[in-house]
Amino acid sequence: MKIAISGKGGVGKTLLASLLARTFAESGFSVLAIDADPDANLAATLGFPHPEKITPLSEMHDLVEERTGARPGQAATYFRLNPKVDDLPEKYCLEYNGIRLMVMGRIKKGGSGCYCSENTLLRALVTHLLLARDEVVILDMEAGIEHLGRATAKAVDKLIVVVEPGRRSIETAYRINKLAQDIGLQKIAIVANKIRSQSEREFLISNLPNFQFLGFIPYDQAIVDADLANLSPVDSSQQVANEARNIYQALLSTAQEPSKKS
Ligand SMILES: Nc1ncnc2c1ncn2[C@@H]1O[C@H](COP(=O)(O)OP(=O)(O)OP(=O)(O)O)[C@@H](O)[C@H]1O
Ligand SMILES: [Mg+2]
Repeated sequence: MKIAISGKGGVGKTLLASLLARTFAESGFSVLAIDADPDANLAATLGFPHPEKITPLSEMHDLVEERTGARPGQAATYFRLNPKVDDLPEKYCLEYNGIRLMVMGRIKKGGSGCYCSENTLLRALVTHLLLARDEVVILDMEAGIEHLGRATAKAVDKLIVVVEPGRRSIETAYRINKLAQDIGLQKIAIVANKIRSQSEREFLISNLPNFQFLGFIPYDQAIVDADLANLSPVDSSQQVANEARNIYQALLSTAQEPSKKS
């Protein structure tokens, strides 16, 4: 199963990616979590030791040059558009608590003509991970879907947009939905986070009438406290973990049944 997670800044994308990675791993699936947010903090949220020492792939300039033929930042008249990437997951993923992680780093933005060498490598890698790998892949993205394209849209079993009670995250959900439609990605669903009351829940349902909701994660001060204490929030709240299990079940029943680890 391939799950991509997007949504407005700060809504809880990384928390959800971590909770789902943990739940799938505990259920016996082989899980690869991908941090595709330039402001990477999935490693810390999953409790990986020394997350600050992890070098994102986009900053491995020797590797980018070796695979694409062009060094990041240097003007190149030629570089490979289909670099070899199939050996990168084994070489560059980290493992902790049964979860494997790859940190991608910054995708450079620019016009549609922004074909720099590190973007090419990252896109090729994401495409490979989504199309060729037989495992649960969880992609923690930013408030867009830059890492996805038409080729990968079909491979994504669910694009989850995280929202919180507030108009701005709803507007972002509509924007992401539009981007998803543009690349032919129909399998989009909502997870509501930081819910404190029934009226907040109803606010989101009534403002996102045509969307499927996979679950509603309560607001829990224990998550904030864990963050302040520099502890992994994934183990800090039983009620949040319970809802993560419900979302996991909803994913299994609405997306194709993934193959279990043998
Ligand atoms: N259910 C919750 N209850 C309380 N606090 C929460 C909850 N979910 C997330 N938070 C807090 O909100 C903040 C943002 O969460 P998180 O980093 O998961 O969001 P994000 O969408 O990945 O943010 P960014 O856009 O910066 O990557 C964190 O400090 C986290 O501890
Ligand atoms: Mg995040």
